[in-house]
Order: sequence, then C-alpha cells, then structure tokens
Amino acid sequence: MTSKASAVPSTSAVQAIQWQDGVLRLLDQRVLPLETRFIDCTTAEATAAAIHDMVVRGAPAIGIAAAFGLVVAVRANAASFDAAEAVLAASRPTAINLHWALQRMRGVWARTPTAERLEAEAIAIFNEDLAQNLRMAALGADLIAPGSRVLTHCNTGALATGGHGTALGVIRTAWAQGKLAQVYNTETRPWLQGARLTAWELMQEGIPGKLIADGAAAHLMSVEKIDWVIVGADRITANGDTANKIGTHALAVIARHFGAKFMVVAPSGTFDLSLASGDRIPIEERTAKELTEFRGQSVAPLGMQAFNPVFDVTPAALIDAIVCERGVIVQPTTAAVAAVLR
Ligand code: MRU
Repeated sequence: MTSKASAVPSTSAVQAIQWQDGVLRLLDQRVLPLETRFIDCTTAEATAAAIHDMVVRGAPAIGIAAAFGLVVAVRANAASFDAAEAVLAASRPTAINLHWALQRMRGVWARTPTAERLEAEAIAIFNEDLAQNLRMAALGADLIAPGSRVLTHCNTGALATGGHGTALGVIRTAWAQGKLAQVYNTETRPWLQGARLTAWELMQEGIPGKLIADGAAAHLMSVEKIDWVIVGADRITANGDTANKIGTHALAVIARHFGAKFMVVAPSGTFDLSLASGDRIPIEERTAKELTEFRGQSVAPLGMQAFNPVFDVTPAALIDAIVCERGVIVQPTTAAVAAVLR
C-alpha cells in the first residue's frame, strides 16, 4: 500500500516533507526563500545525502526523513535494511532524533519485517511529531504572559519538523492567542536558517517578526525588554544540558545577564538519557567554506582557515524551562528531567 501526501499532516502552508506513491519528496531548504524546489529521494543513499547536504534539516525533520529513507530502501530491496540504516545513521552526528527514529524503525522491522509495516511506522512518526508539536505549543504558550517580546534562533518551524514547529510552534500559538507584542529572530550565521527560513515562515503566517544580526542580541536586550528567548534542541542529555544551533549558548548567557527567561522546546525523541551531561554530545563541524564563502563567492582571504562547529551546548543551569510533549521541566536538573521523561 502506498500513501498519498494527504496521509501526512501540516498545520500551515509549509509542507517540507511529502510522502507520495512511495517517493520521499523534500522541499530543498538550501534555495529558500528565493526558489521553491523539491527533490525526490528514491534510495537511502539519496535520502542520507539530502540530510547531510541540508536539503532537509532540523532535528525532528531529519528523523522523519530518515524513517522514510528506510522505507524507500526496503521497498526496492528487502535485504537492504541494515545497509540503509547505516548510511542514514552516518548522515549527521548531533541531532539524536535521527537515531531515535532509526531505532524505532529497527524495532518494528525486528517484529514485522515488511515494507508495509515500516511505511506505517514512518507515517506514525510523522503524525506523532505534529501532535507533539501542537501539545508543546500549548504548554509553552501557557508560560508566556500577554504583551511579551520574544527572541528565537535558527529555524524550528514547520520546515524543521512534521508541522507547526517546536520553538516556532510556541511562538505561532502564542501569537494566535494575542500574547506577543514583538517577535525577533536571529539571522543564524553561517547557514542563515533564521534569515532565510524562519523569516520566510513568519511572513507566510503573517506574524510580523524583526530580523536581527546574531551579534545584535545583547544590544537588543539592553535597549528593549525581551521576556523570553525560545529555542529548539538537537539533543538534550539526562541533566538537561541542551545542544542546539551554534550561538544558542551565547544567547542563554546574554539572556541570563539581562533577565530574559530561556525556554527550550523539544519532543521526547530529542532526549538522550544515555548521556549524563552535554560534554559527551558529538558536535558537528561543517566545511570552512560556510564561513569563507557566500553563494560560491569568497568573503575571506583565499587560504584563510576556519573553525565551523554548527552546534553548541547550553548548560542546564542557564535554562528556565524545557517544554516537552510529556510536560514542562522547570529549572532542569537530572531529577527534574527524569520526573517528566521516565
Ligand atoms: O543545522 P540545522 O539547521 O539542522 O540545525 C537545526 C537546529 O539547530 C534547530 O534549532 C533544532 O534542530 C531544533 S528544530 C525543531
């Protein structure tokens, strides 16, 4: 049985992951907002390349894409599960959602090794992600007082998830509830997830956001009261330490300095309880060209070296609340995380 695109959900005009007649179709996030182009993935290798090259990105979205990548592989060759799983698992290192989704698919495959059962599980992962986002959005919005000003980082919306978004989902819902006086979003260098993707989603939704340079956050908070900094996560360890897009840690330090509260929004699939603390999280480093070039043009002297870690770890002590679909973890500690997650 194959599913139509309507088998998978969206709560906005943005449908970045589509599953249609056995083909995984991904909105190419590398060319947004200038172009709307889709890429079809018909093998696990093509899906892994799309994840690695950031056609699809954002922790929950790459988990969903990887689950469908297994389905396309097994539909073509039932003996290819292990090889497909290995190539997909190696596509990006930091977001645990990728491994969480692959592990869930492996459990299903061990019990019922059919392409149909795998497909049903991938669709379930997709559907559940949207449902979890809607739940987190309601829980997160409850923490926000009317008239609040918020700042978000990276892209955590429908493009990064199965729909609605994690941090941006909270902002969408709080905006719909009339609680937000102002939304700011960082440009998120060097890949510009904020300038290209979050700005695009805000505009599609009619939410009047304001873009800031990453380096403008401290100045913004010194001249205007920001009530909440709201971000997503790629991996949260047992003590609440949170890996997210590079620059998140700096925002948490600045937020604490200026008295803004700091909210992390992530589904249970983003937690890695096998790691006691964030110093064990593998941090992806990408090509220096992301810093030394812009759209193929050099912006630094030829031969200049660069260090390009694309995630950082925010210590739990700088986080006021982690919003998960299972509940809100206030002032995260190992005990507080366990109380909600176990
Ligand atoms: O490198 P990216 O674009 O995949 O990084 C994305 C982020 O860091 C997001 O903030 C995170 O995945 C949460 S998305 C709901």
